[in-house]
Amino acid sequence: EVERKIDSLLSLMTLEEKVGQMNQYNGFWDLTGPAPKEGDAAKKYDHLKSGLVGSMLNVTGVEEVRSVQKIAVEETRLGIPLIIGFDVIHGFRTISPIPLAESASWDLEAIKNSAAMAAKEAAASGINWTFAPMVDISRDARWGRVMEGAGEDPYLGSKIAVARVEGFQGSDLASPYTVAACAKHFAGYGFAEGGRDYNTVDVGTSTLYNTILPPFKAAKEAGVRTFMNAFNELNGIPATADRFLQRELLKDQWNFDGFVVSDWGSMIEMQAHGYARDRKHAAELAANAGSDMDMESYAYVNELVDLVKQGKVQESDLDDSVRRILRVKFELGLFEDPYKYLNEEREDAIVGSKEINDAALDMARKSIVLLKNKNNLLPLKRKGQKVALIGPFVSDKTSPLGSWRLAAEDGTAISLAEGMASYEDNTVRVSEGVKLSNGSNSFPMEVKVNSRDRSGFDEAVKVAKEADVVVMALGEDGFQSGEGRSRAELGLPGLQQELLEEVYKVNKNVVLVLHNGRPLAIEWADQHIPAIVEAWQLGTQSGHAIAQVLYGDYNPSGKLPVSFPRSVGQMPLYYNYKNTGRPTLPGEGVVFWSHYIDEENTPLYPFGHGLSYTEFTYDTLKVNKHTDGVQLTLTVKNNGEVVGKEVVQVYIRDHFATVTRPVKELKAFELVSLAPGEERQLQFNLTKNELGYYLNDGSFILEPGDFTVFVGGSSDTVLEETFTIEALDE
Ligand code: IFM
Repeated sequence: EVERKIDSLLSLMTLEEKVGQMNQYNGFWDLTGPAPKEGDAAKKYDHLKSGLVGSMLNVTGVEEVRSVQKIAVEETRLGIPLIIGFDVIHGFRTISPIPLAESASWDLEAIKNSAAMAAKEAAASGINWTFAPMVDISRDARWGRVMEGAGEDPYLGSKIAVARVEGFQGSDLASPYTVAACAKHFAGYGFAEGGRDYNTVDVGTSTLYNTILPPFKAAKEAGVRTFMNAFNELNGIPATADRFLQRELLKDQWNFDGFVVSDWGSMIEMQAHGYARDRKHAAELAANAGSDMDMESYAYVNELVDLVKQGKVQESDLDDSVRRILRVKFELGLFEDPYKYLNEEREDAIVGSKEINDAALDMARKSIVLLKNKNNLLPLKRKGQKVALIGPFVSDKTSPLGSWRLAAEDGTAISLAEGMASYEDNTVRVSEGVKLSNGSNSFPMEVKVNSRDRSGFDEAVKVAKEADVVVMALGEDGFQSGEGRSRAELGLPGLQQELLEEVYKVNKNVVLVLHNGRPLAIEWADQHIPAIVEAWQLGTQSGHAIAQVLYGDYNPSGKLPVSFPRSVGQMPLYYNYKNTGRPTLPGEGVVFWSHYIDEENTPLYPFGHGLSYTEFTYDTLKVNKHTDGVQLTLTVKNNGEVVGKEVVQVYIRDHFATVTRPVKELKAFELVSLAPGEERQLQFNLTKNELGYYLNDGSFILEPGDFTVFVGGSSDTVLEETFTIEALDE
């Protein structure tokens, strides 16, 4: 039915109108004010009226969206509605934890619900389409966009990709509470050399198939309606012009029938890459490679008609792109009623509602990771314990919102001091100690972190001396991670390390609460500070969530989705590395093995690590072979005195293979809640999907041979068993 409608619409469209559907513009003027008379913005306005725009981004709010939609629907010849896109990355107006933090929950239901809440709030503001989830795997904490992904592991990353796609899109794209999702950035963006954003990506096929592509494939299988290509080149070809990725793999082999949008200006940037001669050439390369929509390169709108007339791009390829774009518009219900997302009453009722804030708080608590808790310094005592709050994030109501929160207002997060104030039995004294940045606005170009101002140190030390426990809130400004925010150092920025050491000199009972968008190298803190809490950037409800964990109202259960380094020189660092020919050499002072002479190989905190206020033990791992693979059984027990949740993790190693396999690979996990003393038996099935891998030609294979299975509460596992796989029944 829909396909028939698309056919009939396509048959009415001029070449120009087809190109129009493939053109996306950024919001261009204050839509409630007068339209511009000259310049590029005026041209955009004319283009909108003449059907040369198929989509807009960064137009938000029912009123603004209605004014552009009205032009498309009521003033253009065919009245085709726009699809309105926006970066709803971790919430819209109400902000949930940054995606990396949410991933630390390993709680797929919660992550799905968080995406569903973001979709609901955004859709109520007129948004149809989010440029999320970012499913790029990254192993390099220097890259600022690690905050936006699910971490370093393709298995966890795939599960989270599915949860997010299902959350955003729901079961009915035409519902006024859902938005279309976008799997980005296709592909390889997380492997930028040196962790420097937009940098060259050069990876082998084994890494491409086994590490980079699986979350994209999982997103496709979960029904994601769009993909975004990427700024980077991949093995010499800019992703935007990569025919193999977009046409052969995504559209042909994977049968994807949604559309691909380019990244912002990524077509035009192919000139700088040294790939396209000029804008026309860029448009030709991108269109032929299967990029369906041009985001802000002005390449398609200006060049595609000519290119078709010259026979350099086939009109049938344009038809294919337009068909894909129209299909998603139909699915969103925009043809049925282009104003269906535009209802002021719904907007007022939903945006910032209690339901959405409650979900943000729930997600924030689940995202916190307890990294260290020596002598049970945490939880804090409700009564009779004087607490000092020290550090630049103690009263900060903006940084906890993190990066990529374009629709949120500055200063709308609950600060740590506000969260702690709910526990009023304690005397809480506050001192900033050091200023981290020169203040932020919602999209600062650079965050200055080099303040050498020690004038707050004395007051901080004095406050620390008088307290029983010091909670230090240190880390990164909300805009020190995110796009364009790569770092060459991974320590605490500015004078924070110095402040930490000064405070520690006068009071050893320090709880370090980290606010950060990436793994940090905090080896000194690990050696000295008794309790360390990873609080990332937790969004609107940040302070409440942290306080509830610090006071034990919520027992932390987060586990790291990324390895934490000892030092920046270990980058890239990841748990599922290859063994190499020289993993170790026995003997004192032996040099010729794969290591650093001045640093350990191991991470400071491994992937999957995270403590609880209770303790879990693992026992009786058994492996039973069956026709489809193996079944594992094991028991896990809560040995402490409080209820707790544990993420039980299952890893495998395939010992010999046609293409070498990592020393460990996550292949299953389960989040279990156990009462004190409770023991539970768990079962996991490992089949071809989990035991197999991709060969260098992209085919998926399970090779018979020897495997080890490892189980535990982190990638530093506690139980293991070996087994042999003979050929399985197909
Ligand atoms: O969605 C983003 C993308 O991830 C980076 N460039 C801009 C796009 C739209 O804002």
